Amino acid sequence: MSAIQKIKGFADLFPEDSRCFTRMEAQARATFGRYGFGELRTPVLERTELFAKGIGEETDVVGKEMYTFTDRGERSLTLRPEATAGVLRAAIEAGGIEPGRATRLYTFGPMFRYERPQKGRMRQFHQINAELLGSPEPAADVEVILMLQDFLTSLGISELCFELNSLGCRECRPDYRSALTAYFEALDHEKLCEDCRRRMHTNPLRVLDCKVPACKALVKDAPEIGQHTCESCRGHFAAVLALVDKAGLKYTLNPRLVRGLDYYQRTTFEVTSGAIGAQTAVAGGGRYDGLVQLLGGPDAPGVGFACGMERLAMLMDRPEAERPDFFLAVTDTREGSGAVEAAVLLAHKLRLRGLSGECDYQPGSMKSRLRHAGRIKARKCYILGAEEHDAGQVTVKDMEDGEQLKLDIAAFD
Ligand code: HAM
Repeated sequence: MSAIQKIKGFADLFPEDSRCFTRMEAQARATFGRYGFGELRTPVLERTELFAKGIGEETDVVGKEMYTFTDRGERSLTLRPEATAGVLRAAIEAGGIEPGRATRLYTFGPMFRYERPQKGRMRQFHQINAELLGSPEPAADVEVILMLQDFLTSLGISELCFELNSLGCRECRPDYRSALTAYFEALDHEKLCEDCRRRMHTNPLRVLDCKVPACKALVKDAPEIGQHTCESCRGHFAAVLALVDKAGLKYTLNPRLVRGLDYYQRTTFEVTSGAIGAQTAVAGGGRYDGLVQLLGGPDAPGVGFACGMERLAMLMDRPEAERPDFFLAVTDTREGSGAVEAAVLLAHKLRLRGLSGECDYQPGSMKSRLRHAGRIKARKCYILGAEEHDAGQVTVKDMEDGEQLKLDIAAFD
């Protein structure tokens, strides 16, 4: 019978890879904790309307990429394609958003998008996500950006590019959208891809982000958002940039940075790397004033980001496995001698003392066992042979200096 295989675009993480993820989570907890953020865990399943409303019906994520199904109670449910909408839903539901007081939450976990899998693009991927709710000040945008930078630095990842833009607000964005639509209409818009011919009317900002070469060529001279933002948005963005400058962060301004989710207002940012293939964005985020209210909460602004853990893992040094303190090999092969039981109990005692290690009671030569102990870099090799077992002892070999001595097993009680 052929073995059942995993689903396309989904991955298994064995220890060599999962160690990277554990390191990222530990660094995120440490860094975000220093910024006053607390951990929130939300369900992977939410009502479909949360994402349709929050992320926007016109986005690729909602239109083409969601894992949506009807459950046995006839409810339409969706595996979360991102974390922000769920975090806001949870905070609103718990009454945790007080206007005028900042709420700082982070969350980790798997997200699901039905995209075409390729290097750095999975159908189940993992995000580290942070949201600062309740603060409209440019200072909040900057704190979040600096927290992201600190986190990436703590992973030893350099050579990253921070790109910043402001997308304007509900007041000034319609003006920009009209200018864009007018620009595309005046062009030979039949040359745009099928999606963009629709988007130029429904969501013209998304045309700026299209990866189809013909569309890329046509947007080259499109009007820039900066010429259309209102005074208040310009002032907000100027204050963000001034503080980011003072903090010494290097960034580039990218007036074409529109992001793939509809909830953004004002500041948006992305962190990219040229070292991981075609999918260059390792993190993205921005301000989403109005989203809390749209999801039924109070009039509280918000700003946040998410990092893609698979993409960060590609840029990190692989952490080594922790060295085990011991490797305990049973070499007493006499039937019914009780050596295996004695070894299991001895290993248990060692673990209760805080030591880590493997107990090996399978048959095999001493040479191959010592080779294995060397491979896993065990600090000490414990050997329970017939002679030792009869004497109630165990041989302990220090794998660093080769020194060997016999100890009474009773001494470990
Ligand atoms: P996003 O840009 O859609 O933003 O995703 C954030 C990051 O998740 C990306 O930069 C990328 O590293 C990773 N990512 C996205 N899709 C995939 C995929 N299919 N495979 C592997 N990695 C992927 C958001 O999700 C927003 N919720 C971020 C945010 C939080 N904005 C404000 N708060």
